[in-house]
Amino acid sequence: MHIISVGAPPGQAAEWRLVVRNFRDNPPMTPDEAAHPTPDQDAPSDVTAFTNRLRKNLAHWRKWARRRGITCFRIYGRDVPQFPFAIDWFETVSPRAETHLHVQEIDTGWKRSDADYTAWLIAVCDSICEVCGVPPEQLHLKRRERQRGTSQYEKLDDEEAGVFVVEEAGLRFEVNFDAYLDTGLFLDHRPMRAMVAESIAARAKRGAGTRFLNLFAYTGSFTVHAARAGSDESTTVDLSNTYQAWTARNLALNGMNARRHRLVSADALAWLDTAVAARERYEVIVLDPPSFSNSKKMTGVLDVQRDHVRLVSQCHALLADGGELFFSTNLRSFRIDEQLVAQCALREITHQSVPEDFRRPTGAGPHRAWKTEQRG
Ligand SMILES: C[S@@+](CC[C@H](N)C(=O)[O-])C[C@H]1O[C@@H](n2cnc3c(N)ncnc32)[C@H](O)[C@@H]1O
Repeated sequence: MHIISVGAPPGQAAEWRLVVRNFRDNPPMTPDEAAHPTPDQDAPSDVTAFTNRLRKNLAHWRKWARRRGITCFRIYGRDVPQFPFAIDWFETVSPRAETHLHVQEIDTGWKRSDADYTAWLIAVCDSICEVCGVPPEQLHLKRRERQRGTSQYEKLDDEEAGVFVVEEAGLRFEVNFDAYLDTGLFLDHRPMRAMVAESIAARAKRGAGTRFLNLFAYTGSFTVHAARAGSDESTTVDLSNTYQAWTARNLALNGMNARRHRLVSADALAWLDTAVAARERYEVIVLDPPSFSNSKKMTGVLDVQRDHVRLVSQCHALLADGGELFFSTNLRSFRIDEQLVAQCALREITHQSVPEDFRRPTGAGPHRAWKTEQRG
């Protein structure tokens, strides 16, 4: 992993940081995407089509977001195939109120000379800043590369990484635009966080149990929503101490009582075995595993395609009567086991769980999701 600076006029500090790293989970191109032509090699810096589309998108999504009180949202998702980027707009509330853009280049495997590529990338970044009215230091560019063998959740070597706070549904979340590949808040799960909160709130209202389990929790955003909705007891499992510490900060940021929310740094597969044997019970469970994980902290490898039957079945066994399980995966090629669907009465909820700002007429969505209810 290394960071390359591009875009600097000779003798001046670079304006963009192009973060290059191996990325385990980069989804393969769909046949539809592969069919798109490579960009015009004779005009590598002509970004007019991109600029026009971004301007149109920005007007639409800002209005859409404002009406819904949303301050972090996707403004561009490879809407022009020749410009393979995902651009997310984040309005921070702390330490300063400003707009940051998280720009991810989608790897296409296109072959270009370094000079053409750099000229093109600079033109794209200039266009983004100009259209969005955001200064270059608030544009954070990440480049995803195809798998070359390392795990996808490693920290990037960036000492100057800045921590910001953003808001979602009146809750506060810490984000970091530079230190990691992802920011700390997956925006495509915004509706699912709302669904989980609704489920907990409805249970709390009728005096039912509200025990919440968050598996592969990352920075605990589901846990924070569940806690605010009335879960007085939750368990949050993630292998990473770094992310568990981040979850603790997110809970604290929202004034949640840390004693009621158990943070477990463990391999979720091993933890599930123990929890099932101990007959633990939860009213609401979120299961959102990575597509693949080969961390040194776990024995073996997690492969969601291979392991989802075991994971979903075990979670199903942990549900209290009337409990709900939300299962999500971002593996593009994922095929759910049909026997599992029947056994656990899984219902696909992807059309509700993928937010409008992430829907595109072509190409796969950011995730697929299923829900099941335990009828005791
Ligand atoms: C896709 S992210 C989960 C996103 C999260 N549910 C959200 O919406 O914010 C995957 C997480 O799984 C964690 N992880 C990877 N392998 C694990 C394992 N074997 N056991 C527990 N956590 C694991 C990673 O540390 C990472 O935080």
